[in-house]
Amino acid sequence: MDQSPVVIITGASSGIGEATARLLGAHGYRLVLAARRQERLERLAEEIRGADGQAVGLATDVTRLEDIQRLVEHTMERFGQVDVLFNNAGFGRLDWLEHLDPVRDVARQVHVDLLGLIHTTQAVLPYMIARRNGHIINVASLAGHIAVPTYSVYAASKFGVRGFTDALRREMGVWGVHVSGVYPGSVATEFELHTGARRKTGLRTPGWLRLSAEQVAGEVLRLIRRPRRQVVLPRVMLLAVWLNALVPGVVDFAVRKGFVERERS
Ligand SMILES: NC(=O)c1ccc[n+]([C@@H]2O[C@H](COP(=O)([O-])OP(=O)(O)OC[C@H]3O[C@@H](n4cnc5c(N)ncnc54)[C@H](OP(=O)(O)O)[C@@H]3O)[C@@H](O)[C@H]2O)c1
Repeated sequence: MDQSPVVIITGASSGIGEATARLLGAHGYRLVLAARRQERLERLAEEIRGADGQAVGLATDVTRLEDIQRLVEHTMERFGQVDVLFNNAGFGRLDWLEHLDPVRDVARQVHVDLLGLIHTTQAVLPYMIARRNGHIINVASLAGHIAVPTYSVYAASKFGVRGFTDALRREMGVWGVHVSGVYPGSVATEFELHTGARRKTGLRTPGWLRLSAEQVAGEVLRLIRRPRRQVVLPRVMLLAVWLNALVPGVVDFAVRKGFVERERS
């Protein structure tokens, strides 16, 4: 059991990160759980240990380089290796650009969602390169493939995550380090508590397209077992990704008529 893979999960205190921690913990992975809310991490780590798993929590703000350094050092001291980095911490402020605060909404979002993910990867990579083994899994979003109104800064961050993921995958292949991107559509988590989204039209993702955090966690486990370039969730949304790439003008028109003109009227 002690030889089971070691996984660092950022954003483990709720939603996708929490569900992934529970699932990987139940499958014997050794876990280091990171986020800012320490009590929640400790409760989760205790729950996993109580079910015969191995997990420790460490309060970490991914916008602080010293926190990231401590997270990786702590992992190496405790377990001696990092096999998987699940870069999942993030949030979205989903409003018209003119309503977003330049610091609290714009800079902070890019810092957590993009820079935090890049910096955490940089801290972990030397250990993976040295072992010629490892897997970086970056949580982007469908918004990293399709940019829609009120998602401008979120999409900028998540397109950034996609570019980073693609380039790094091509850099790292020769070292035996896998790099994957996860692109979920709407997932029922605490994410929506932080978006600040106000919709006149009440338009929402239909229930049948919405995912649970547990469904995403299941896909992450599959990805760890069989590394792939990317996972778009739900899979049917690959059609939307292709449509957006092939006929962007049609998507512009549909979004304008179906959403922007109604919201802005
Ligand atoms: N829910 C969706 O519809 C959806 C769709 C596509 C992609 N995603 C992406 O999925 C990821 C996880 O989101 P979720 O849906 O699970 O939302 P969530 O339940 O709100 O979880 C977000 C996690 O990120 C952590 N976090 C936020 N800021 C942080 C910081 N500065 N440092 C460290 N951790 C931080 C939060 O923990 P603390 O507050 O304790 O720090 C929390 O654990 C995000 O990257 C999000 O963009 C979500």
